[in-house]
Amino acid sequence: MTKHVYWAPGRVNLIGEFTDLSGGPVLPAALDLGVHIEAGPAETIALHSRELDGATGLAADGTPLGGETGGWARYVAAVAVELALLGRPAVGLEGEISSTLPIGAGLSSSAALEVAVGLALCEVADFPLEPMELAQAARRAEHRAVGVPCGILDQAASVLGRAGLATLLETGSLAYEYVPLPEEIALVIVDSGVSRRLESSGYGARREELERALAVLAGRDPRELTIAEVDEIAESGVLDPVAARRLRHVVSESERVYEVARLLRDPSPAHLQRLGEAFREGHESLRRDWEATTPELDLLVELAYEHRAIAARMTGGGFGGSIVVLAWANEARALAEAVVTAYGKRGDNPAQAYVCRASDGARRIS
Ligand code: GLA
Repeated sequence: MTKHVYWAPGRVNLIGEFTDLSGGPVLPAALDLGVHIEAGPAETIALHSRELDGATGLAADGTPLGGETGGWARYVAAVAVELALLGRPAVGLEGEISSTLPIGAGLSSSAALEVAVGLALCEVADFPLEPMELAQAARRAEHRAVGVPCGILDQAASVLGRAGLATLLETGSLAYEYVPLPEEIALVIVDSGVSRRLESSGYGARREELERALAVLAGRDPRELTIAEVDEIAESGVLDPVAARRLRHVVSESERVYEVARLLRDPSPAHLQRLGEAFREGHESLRRDWEATTPELDLLVELAYEHRAIAARMTGGGFGGSIVVLAWANEARALAEAVVTAYGKRGDNPAQAYVCRASDGARRIS
């Protein structure tokens, strides 16, 4: 059996949180942390993993071969089922999975797993898919595996990533373009140590609250609204205050995505100053209007700014997980260490920091 190595990265979202729930813009980068699969064609899907603990025992179309399909194997099974529905020939996959992504840190470990498995399954069956078709199948697999009504952000970021670039993606039309990250800026991710699972977080509830707001917009796109209009809608009484706050977040956050992309394209000192303010406003909107930050994430953001962050905010699905920091590249390690130490003195959860680079997206690497 010829084995190949497949790779799919996790992602960090620079800005544009929860905007993918209403087709709005996002600005993620793929990370140099992710999932490797070394595997080749087989009768069944038999993947094992030392770090992730466990193995899969599945038919090539994702049907369980007796026993329970729990943990990470659920995602593998769901990807196989989604690809079978698209017509993938039933060829199995045997090999080893490993991951450098922390689980529950909000860096899309499950999306990276889904995309890597999808890539490998497509290749062994000689069933090529366009990158965004693969991302959409992986997203449907997330719904199928754990019932999380997530948007396309994580899976799209994993397939579209490019070294040194962030991806400005319109999650409605799926149009995208790349935004260069200035070389003097490094990405620092700090995991709050308060682990989150989308399945049990308030993610689904937030989505429903936003849906209530979208219903009264009668087809108008949140990207066309101003904050003043959201306030008018809220005051008119057609919308409950909670749904109005969720809508206000999505409207203000979409504006910030376009602004941050413009600022990164022309990173003058004044623009980098503004970038820091925009990230602060984004975090504040997630705290006050979307209500998905935690005291730990709020503290980490404060500590990052105290230690000379250019910009810092919560990233990902919220309710725990990580912050993303844009730091001066030559100060990134010192900032990461100082924030972790200061955070450790303030509470019981140990933080973990990662200095990352924007990296290429999912692909076969050997
Ligand atoms: C999770 C979801 C994404 C997106 C983010 C928040 O990562 O999987 O679709 O909604 O939360 O921006």
